[in-house]
Amino acid sequence: MNPALDPDARADLMLHEMTLDEKIQLVHGIGWGVLRKGAYVPPEDIGGAGFVPGIPRLHLPDINLADSAVGVRMAALHGRYATALPSALGMSASWDPDAAFLYGSVIGRELRDQGFNMSIGGGMDLIREPRNGRNFEYSSEDPILAGNMIGQLARGVQSNQIMGDIKHYAFNDQETGRNTYNALIDERAARETDLLAFQIAIGIAHPAGVMCAYNRVNGDYSCENDFLLNKVLKHDWNFKGFVLSDWGGTHSTVKAALAGLDNDEPGDDNFFSGPLKEAVLSGQVPQSRLDDMVHRIVRSMFATGAIDHPPIPSVVDPFRGRDDAQHIEEESIVLLKNGALNNRAAILPLSASTPSIALIGGHADVGVLSGGGSSQVDPPGGNAVNPHPGSANWGEHVYLRSSPLHYIQQAAPNAHLTYDPGIDPAAAAKAASSAQIAIVFATQWESEGQDSATLSLPDKQDALIAAVAAANPNTIVVLETGNPVSMPWATNVKGILEAWFPGIGGAEALTNILFGRVNPSGKLPVTFPASDDQLPHPHVTGLTPRTGNNGADARTRGQQPRDFAVDYNVAGMAVGYRWFQEKNEQPLFPFGFGLSYTRFTYSNLHVTPDAKSVAFDLRNTGSRSGDEIAQVYVTLPASAGEPFRKLAAWKRISLAANATQHVEIPIDPLALSIYSINKSAWLRPSGDFLIEAGGSSADLPLHQSLHLSQ
Ligand code: BGC
Repeated sequence: MNPALDPDARADLMLHEMTLDEKIQLVHGIGWGVLRKGAYVPPEDIGGAGFVPGIPRLHLPDINLADSAVGVRMAALHGRYATALPSALGMSASWDPDAAFLYGSVIGRELRDQGFNMSIGGGMDLIREPRNGRNFEYSSEDPILAGNMIGQLARGVQSNQIMGDIKHYAFNDQETGRNTYNALIDERAARETDLLAFQIAIGIAHPAGVMCAYNRVNGDYSCENDFLLNKVLKHDWNFKGFVLSDWGGTHSTVKAALAGLDNDEPGDDNFFSGPLKEAVLSGQVPQSRLDDMVHRIVRSMFATGAIDHPPIPSVVDPFRGRDDAQHIEEESIVLLKNGALNNRAAILPLSASTPSIALIGGHADVGVLSGGGSSQVDPPGGNAVNPHPGSANWGEHVYLRSSPLHYIQQAAPNAHLTYDPGIDPAAAAKAASSAQIAIVFATQWESEGQDSATLSLPDKQDALIAAVAAANPNTIVVLETGNPVSMPWATNVKGILEAWFPGIGGAEALTNILFGRVNPSGKLPVTFPASDDQLPHPHVTGLTPRTGNNGADARTRGQQPRDFAVDYNVAGMAVGYRWFQEKNEQPLFPFGFGLSYTRFTYSNLHVTPDAKSVAFDLRNTGSRSGDEIAQVYVTLPASAGEPFRKLAAWKRISLAANATQHVEIPIDPLALSIYSINKSAWLRPSGDFLIEAGGSSADLPLHQSLHLSQ
C-alpha cells in the first residue's frame, strides 16, 4: 500500500501474499449477475455487467465493471442517473481530441459517483461494414482518427481513477454471426488498419483492460488467439494491462490461458475457475502464467488509482453531464447540404422570425433516438415514447427526453409549429405544404446483436421524405442514425444535417445549429456510400432474411452456431474512403466532409524536408466565426502498393470571420510507413510521397511532392 512504489512493484508484493485460490478468484467473474434473470448477484456487486470479488485481507477492492460505451448503463435499475452522451461515432465527427477526453471524463466521473471502478466501454472496431449495428459505439473507418479519439476517450475515463477499457479486440466489425464467424485478414492489412487503431489508442491511454472479441480471427477465437494477444498486444505493443473476455467469449481453459487471456467474463463457463486451478497444478498452465494474469490485473488497479482512490458513491451531477453532452453534440453534427444543388440559396441557418415550421417524424415532438444493446443508457424519466418503470429492455427503441419541438419553438417563439408523426406520407406532405419550412426527422435505430440489411433508411422513410420534399421546396432532413445511410432524395431537399444519436442534450444542440447560434463544424468520420453495391461486401456477409436480427449470441439464444468466414481481404488495407479511391467510386458524401455557415480557404503549404510536420495558412473568408477541421493526407510511393491517400494528421481550428491562421501540424511517422512482414516492423518506404491538405478527403487544394530516402 506504499504509493511511493511503482504499480508493478506493488502488484508483486501483493501477489506474493496470495494463495492459489485467491489468485484463481481474481481471474474470472462470478457469472451473469444482473444481466440475466435468476443469476446469482453477490451482495457487494453493485449492479454492473461484471463483478470480480477482491481480497479484503490484502485490502484489494472488488472490481465492479459497468458497460459504458456512450454513458453508464442500467442506471435505472437502482434509481440512479447517468448521462446519455451522443453516440461515439457522433463524437468522432468532432475530430476534437478534447471532446473525446471530455466524453470519457463524463463516463469516468459518473462511474465513480455510482461506485464502479472499471468501465467496459471504449468501442474501437473499425468501420469496415457500414451496416454493422454497433458502429454507433465505435469511432471511424480510419485507424488514425479512431485510435486517437478512442485513446483520448479512455484517457478521460482513467483521469477519474477508473479503470478504462478498449474493445472488441479484434475485427468484430459486424454483428451477424458475431459469436462464430471467422474474420480472414492478412497480417500486413491487419496491422495497418484495425490493429493500428488499437495500437494508437493503447499507446495514448494505457488502458487497464482490453476486451477480446467474440469472433474468430484467421481461425482462432479472439480470446484464445496467440497472435492477437501474446504476440501483437502484449509483446509488440508492450500492453501492461489485462485482457478480459467479452461476455461468453472464452472457449477453453489451457488454450486461452496460454494464448494470453487474463480474465474470463462473466465466468459462468468456469473455464478460469476450478479447471484453471487444475491446469496450473498439473503444469499444463505454468504458475508463472497465472501470476502474470494476476499481476496484470492488480498492477492496473494500482496504476489507475483504483486502489488508492476508491470511488465514493455520490449524487451524479445531471446538469453538468447534460451540458457536456450538448457541447459534444454541437461539435459533432455534420451539415451535409445547405441550399439548392448549385448551392445558390442557403436554407440554413433558419431565422428566428420564421413564420411557420412543420416538424415531421422521428418522435421529434418528444425526444431524440438512442442506440440499443449493452450501450443503452437509461434516460431520465424513461423512454420518451413509451415510458415504463425500470431499465430499458433489450430491443426497445429508446428516445431520450430532449424534444426538438420544444427547443425549436423557443428559438422561433412566434412561429406556428406543427408536428406530424410521419407515418402516412400523404398526411405529412399536407402538413408540410402549409408551412414555410418542413423539417423531417429521419431515424435509423441500430443495436448490438443485429446489422442493417441495407444502407437504406428503414420504415419507408425514403418515400416519406420524397413526398414531403415534393410538397415543400424548403425541406430540411435531420438524420438521427447509427450509421451512414443512402439518400435517394438528396437532390430534392434543401438541407441535410447528420445528428447521429444526439444524446441527452441533442435537441438543444440541434436547435442551436439550425438557428445559427452554433456554426456547424463536424465532419464525417465515415464515408457515406451512394449505394450498397459500392461496398467491398455489397451484402452483409452471412446475413439472410432468416438470420436478420439474430447476429447476437448463438449459444444463449438457442440458435445453431453458424460457421462462416468474413473475408476482410477483399478490401484489405483499403478500408472506407481508401476503397472508394481504389475503385474510383463516387460516394454520396466523402470521408472528412462537412459544411459550415462560413467558408475556409487554404494556402501556402510547406512540408518540412523530413515530412515530420506540415504548415499552411487557413483563412475564414466568410462573415461568421467557425471551426474548421483541416486534414492532411499522404500518398505513399508506388512501391508501397497502397494506391490511395491516407489520413495522416488533422487539426480543429477556431477562426473569427476574416481571420487567418498559420497552422502547423505534426505528422505521426506511422502515417508515412508500411508494416513490413519480413522485418516485423514499421518501415518508411523510400521514394516520392504526396502530401495534400484541405477540408475533406475529396477536397484537397494544397499538395506537395517530397522525395524521402531511408
Ligand atoms: C458485449 C460487450 C459488453 C458485454 C457485457 C457483450 O454482449 O459484446 O460489449 O461489454 O456484453 O454487457
